[in-house]
Amino acid sequence: MSKKGSTATASPNIAFIKYWGNRDHALRLPANTSLSMTLANLRTETTVFFDDDLQSDQIEINGSPASEKAVARVSQHLDLIRSLAGSPAFASIRSQSNFPSGAGIASSASAFAALTAAASTAAGLEMDKKQLSILARRGSGSAARSIFGGFVQLYSGEVNDDGYAEQLAPANHWQLVDLIAVVTKEHKSTGSSEGHLLAPTSPIQVSRVQDAARRLEICSRAILQKDFLALAQIIEQDSNLMHSVMMTSNPPLLYLEPESISIMKHVTHWREDGLEVCYTVDAGPNIHCICSSDDSVEVERQLRLIDGVLDVFRCPPGNGVALTSSNEQTPQ
Ligand code: DP6
Repeated sequence: MSKKGSTATASPNIAFIKYWGNRDHALRLPANTSLSMTLANLRTETTVFFDDDLQSDQIEINGSPASEKAVARVSQHLDLIRSLAGSPAFASIRSQSNFPSGAGIASSASAFAALTAAASTAAGLEMDKKQLSILARRGSGSAARSIFGGFVQLYSGEVNDDGYAEQLAPANHWQLVDLIAVVTKEHKSTGSSEGHLLAPTSPIQVSRVQDAARRLEICSRAILQKDFLALAQIIEQDSNLMHSVMMTSNPPLLYLEPESISIMKHVTHWREDGLEVCYTVDAGPNIHCICSSDDSVEVERQLRLIDGVLDVFRCPPGNGVALTSSNEQTPQ
């Protein structure tokens, strides 16, 4: 009996310049180039064993058997890796995250980054980080960015091989903190994959995408020059544009809850009062408050006083995907 296994860990990321909509859904080539910060302290650890004796993929997520939908998505991703490796064996997979999934904390990013690294290594493929990011993108667009640490760009790409991520600046470049104000730990009703399909139904998606290069340029410059005010203005505009597209698609998607709006208004006031803080929101109701390290203690204290804030996760810039073990012979 032959078993080959590997374990990898990866962190989610928060997009400062977001993508929404795909130019190619099958290849998950995003509609526009995006830019994110990889998040320390949150992580997914995934172990993959290919086993000639298995009759199908066996997938456990956070201690329970995966849903049919999750099995189909993970197996489709493994099929890609099996075809690249020329080896048909099914796999047993165990994945564990230390944060709630499906609530706008990009669990698919860390999950598919860790899965791609663990499965490709277990399958005997030797890939550099650029190749890993291309492959991870096929599982979840934002996962391509979680291959790298620090501040990371994902090119939208015209064809499969130019839709890859690369690092703009390492994690220690700028000590920003993402304080994630959690207002719900429930799974969101419409996942990003379905949301991307709806993006073209919004009349403002075309202008959001057309203007993305301008926003990306301002954001990259703000990061490289550590200009907090410039960063704050552009990432709030980018997030609001994406939510405007979501709200004006058909059917409309409204991810923000009353508590989300309340936090966003507080953040605006805090910045007017001199704190270095701004907000950005993914496809969920939780609010990512990006702040300078110096002001993060005061922002966290004030966030915890707001009604409806259930928890606050504190995430400085983090590292990219890492293999923690490889080529074990028996499942642990
Ligand atoms: C709002 O990467 O979650 O977080 O490929 O369907 O998994 P799938 O989409 P996903 O989309 C990311 C959407 C976003 C913005 C961003 O991270 O750029």
